[in-house]
This record gives sequence, structure tokens and C-alpha cells, in this order.
Amino acid sequence: MITIEFENDKVLFEQTVGYAAQQVRRLIEKHADFYPMYTKDGKWKHEGPAWTHWCDGFLPGMMWLFHKRLENGNGASDFWLKQAIRYTKPLEPRKFDRDVHDLGFIFLSTYYRWYQLTKDPALNDVLIEAGRTMSLRFREKGQYLRSFVAENSLFIDIMMNVGIIFYAARETGDKRLRDIAVRHALTTRRVLVRGDGSTAHEGIFDTETGEFLKQTTQQGYRGDSCWSRGLAWALYGFGTCYEYSRDPRFLETAEACADFYIMHTPADGVPPWDFGAPPESRKLLDTSAAAIAASGLLRLSRLLHDPVKGQFYWSAAMHILRSLCNKHLGKSDPAWEGVLKGGVYHMHKKLGVNESVMWGEYFFVEALENALRYL
Ligand code: GLY
Repeated sequence: MITIEFENDKVLFEQTVGYAAQQVRRLIEKHADFYPMYTKDGKWKHEGPAWTHWCDGFLPGMMWLFHKRLENGNGASDFWLKQAIRYTKPLEPRKFDRDVHDLGFIFLSTYYRWYQLTKDPALNDVLIEAGRTMSLRFREKGQYLRSFVAENSLFIDIMMNVGIIFYAARETGDKRLRDIAVRHALTTRRVLVRGDGSTAHEGIFDTETGEFLKQTTQQGYRGDSCWSRGLAWALYGFGTCYEYSRDPRFLETAEACADFYIMHTPADGVPPWDFGAPPESRKLLDTSAAAIAASGLLRLSRLLHDPVKGQFYWSAAMHILRSLCNKHLGKSDPAWEGVLKGGVYHMHKKLGVNESVMWGEYFFVEALENALRYL
């Protein structure tokens, strides 16, 4: 019976990756060299603002994943390799970008994948430089990497970007970089992750003394609620910190976040945009949080020492992916240009609400590709 279910998953996931590749091809044929962030009424090209520029790695990141999936040298794989390089190269100057806290998102989805393929040291240099730039956000007073909004602000999202500092530390042997990454993760664990495994989006510090003042939010419902995407970033990001540091505190934190996600998400595995929003508002889901959680759970399942819990996380991730494939694809509407419907970018600013969002597409494809390697 289990074999039959996995066989079905394999077909479903392969078809969905095929559909995603088709949608990405449609996007780049319609709007060449354009790096969109979210759709408006299902269309990628519009005048909606970005708020911050953190998403440019996700489109090429998917291209690297399509290339990898098709690897054994055929026309389609060559096509995706060419496109992946074409869309990755223009990102190189961002290795010096000090305006965003997102250099992990931008470079781990692109240059890291490219470097894994070729082992060209010049590509590794780009990753190392990005990690060094990211480390410049560190504030000794408070012990955190500051967010893009202000000196006194720490975001949970930065947990997805601290990996580039760990990476640069490992590649160069620079202990100072590793120390910054560890201290940032410990601070985030202390001030943004609550005892029940839920997370706050943002923390505010006194920049004079370094004292932590309060939990608040930019994109969640309120400071004491749990914004579902922030939780998914934490689940995935603390797992990455454990992978690099082998510090068991980070694995425990990732597990606490994963357990909160599993316990509080409706039966089909797709969460409301914020777990603490009022009931009417909670009807609005965020499929991108589900895709990130699925990908993070698959990674965590292989890091755990307890095989039963590992199997549980694997099954939870498969369940989420099945729901996304069966109920949330743009396929149901041929005019829809995205892959996954039902993502949410910024509720309060009314940006990308109930739309396709580029990070949702990327982590969905990453999770499918990851699952397919074991099916
Ligand atoms: N700023 C990252 C996010 O929207 O999740």
C-alpha cells in the first residue's frame, strides 16, 4: 500500500515540477530578463511596489532546480542551464548590497547552486563576499544582524540569510564570521522564538544599551501573534544553523517551530497567513508558508537523530506537498501566470495578497525536487 501511495506522489510531483517549468518558461518568454516578486490578479508584470528588493534569486533558483532535475544531458536541461546562468550573472553586484538583509536568499538560491555544479572558485568568491557583506549588519550592542528597516530592528526572516555567513566562515576558516552567525541565531532564539515554538516577526532593541525591548511585527497580524511565514522561515533557518554549527540548541529550536506548525495548521497542512489573526481573517491562507515549511521539514527530517520523528516530519512535508499540488495550483485558471495560488506578501500594505509569490514558487519547487530524490 505504501509503495502505491509513493508511486502516486512521484507522478503527481513530477507533473507539478513539469507544470512549474512550463509556467516559468511562459514568464521568461513574455517578459525577458524581468525578475518579478508577486502577481497582481495572476499577472507577473504590474506597477505594484516591492517594499524591499529581496527576491531576485528565486526565479533563477528555480531554473537551477529544473536543470538539476533534467540533468542527464538533453535539450531541456541545456535550455535551463543557459537561462539559469543568464538570470544569475546580473545578481553578482548584489554581493556588496548593504541595503537588504537578504543576501542568503539571493545567493544561496543561485551562485551556491552554480558553484555546486562547476566548482569554479570565482563563483565561490562571490558567495564568500556576500557572506562578508551580510556580516556587516551585526550590532555588538544587542548581538544581532539588523533588519533593512532600522538599526534597532531584528527580523525572523534573517534566519534564512544567516546561512551565507556560516558558509563564508566555513570556506575561509574565518572564526569571527562564524561567531557572528552563532550569536545572531542565539539572540533570535532568545527574543523571537517563544516557549511554545511560535515566533514573533520583529524584535526592537535599545541601540544605546543593546537591551531587548519588545516583540512587534511588520507583516504579521500583531506583535504577539505568529505570522505563519515567519514561523516557516524559523523552522527552516534554525535547521540550517544546526547543519553548519552542530549546536543542538538550534536543532531543538527548529523542532519546536516545526511542532508548532504541525500542531496549529489545519488538517491539509496549509496555514492561515497568521495563526493569531481573528477567525474571519484566518480564512486567508499563505501557500508560500506551506511551501517553505514543507522544504524545511524535509531537510529537518534528515538532520534528526530520532528516526521516528524524522519519518514524522517527512510524512508531514509530503502531506503539505500533496495538498499544494492537488488544491492550490494556478492550473485551475489557464490565464494565471504563477505556479502556486494563494500566497500573501504584505497584508497591511495590500501587496500580493492571495497571489502567486516568487519565494513560494521557489521553495515549492525546491521541496518537490528534494522529495523526488527519495521517491
Ligand atoms: N520579507 C520576507 C518575507 O516577506 O517573508
